[in-house]
Amino acid sequence: MKEFENRTAVITGGANGIGEALARALASHGANVVIADINDALGEQIVKDIVADGGAASYLHVDVGVEESMSALFVEAKRIHQTIDYVFNNAGISVSGDSRDLSLDQWRKVTDVNYWGVVYGSKFAYDLMAEQGHGHIINIASLAGLIPFPTNLPYSATKFAVVGMSLSLRAEGVDLGVRVSAVCPGFIASNIFNATEMVNVPKTDIIKSIPFKMVETKDAAENILKGVARNKAIIIFPRYAKILWLLSRIKLSLTDSMSLKTIRDMRKMRGSKKTESTS
Ligand code: NAI
Repeated sequence: MKEFENRTAVITGGANGIGEALARALASHGANVVIADINDALGEQIVKDIVADGGAASYLHVDVGVEESMSALFVEAKRIHQTIDYVFNNAGISVSGDSRDLSLDQWRKVTDVNYWGVVYGSKFAYDLMAEQGHGHIINIASLAGLIPFPTNLPYSATKFAVVGMSLSLRAEGVDLGVRVSAVCPGFIASNIFNATEMVNVPKTDIIKSIPFKMVETKDAAENILKGVARNKAIIIFPRYAKILWLLSRIKLSLTDSMSLKTIRDMRKMRGSKKTESTS
C-alpha cells in the first residue's frame, strides 16, 4: 500500500495485539511508526524487530488515560517527524461481568482508557492535523460500539461513544483536510481476553464460550489499513459483524436473542458474590 510510504503513523497500544500488528504492517508498507504504550518491554522489542527488518520505528511510554502523557506524545512525535499523517487511537481495555458485579471504579478505569484516551488522541491529533491541512485519525472502537454487548457494559458504552465522536468529527474535518474513521471489528485473537478483568465469572470458561471464530491480528491490521486507504467512515469486519450491524439497523430487536443468550450463558457461570459495590 503506497499511501503509507514515508508517512508518520502514531499507534497507541502498539506494543501488543492489533496495535502491534498495525505497527508491523505499517512499517512494512514504508511508514515511520511511533508506538505509544505502557508496556515498555514489548514496545521496545517491536521497535528493535522493525528496525532490524529495515523499517523505521520508535517507542514512547504513554498512558492514554492521562492527558499530560498524551499531550507529551504529540509534542514529541511532532518534534521528531514534523508532520503526523496517521493516528491510530487503539489502546483499549475491558472489564467484564454481570453489571451488578461491576464497581464504579471499574467503570472509571475502562472509561479513562477507552473513552478519554481516544478523546485526548483525537483532540491533539485533530488540532495538529487541521493546522497541517491533512491527516487521518483512526479510532479503534468495536462491534460492541454498534450493537448491544451485555456482560461488557463499560466497554460497550465507551465504544458507542467512540463511534459517535468519530463520525461527528469526521464531518467537522472534511473542509480542514482531516479524515476520521471508526473501526468496529468482531472478535480478534489478541491478548485482550487474558488481560480483561472478569468479575465473579471464570475467565477460561467465558473465553471458551465466545461463539465466533477469532480473526488473526495480522489479518485484522490489513483489513483496517485497506479501510483507511479507502477512507471508510466505519471499518467493520469480519462478515458476521457486518451482518449483525445491518440487522440491528433494520430493527434493533433482531439482535435481541443473541444478547439474551450472552447474558444468560454468563449468569450460569456467575459465582456467589452478591455485592453490588458502588466504590
Ligand atoms: P491487547 O490487550 O492485545 O492490546 C492492547 C494494548 O494496549 C496493549 O499493548 C496494552 O499494553 C495497551 N494499553 C492498555 N492500556 C493502556 C494505556 N492506559 N495506555 C497505553 N497503552 C495501553 O488488545 P487488542 O485486542 O489488541 O485491542 C486493541 C483495540 O482493539 C482496543 O481498543 C480493543 O477494544 C479493540 N478491539 C478488540 C477486539 C478483540 O476482539 N480483540 C475486537 C474489537 C475491538
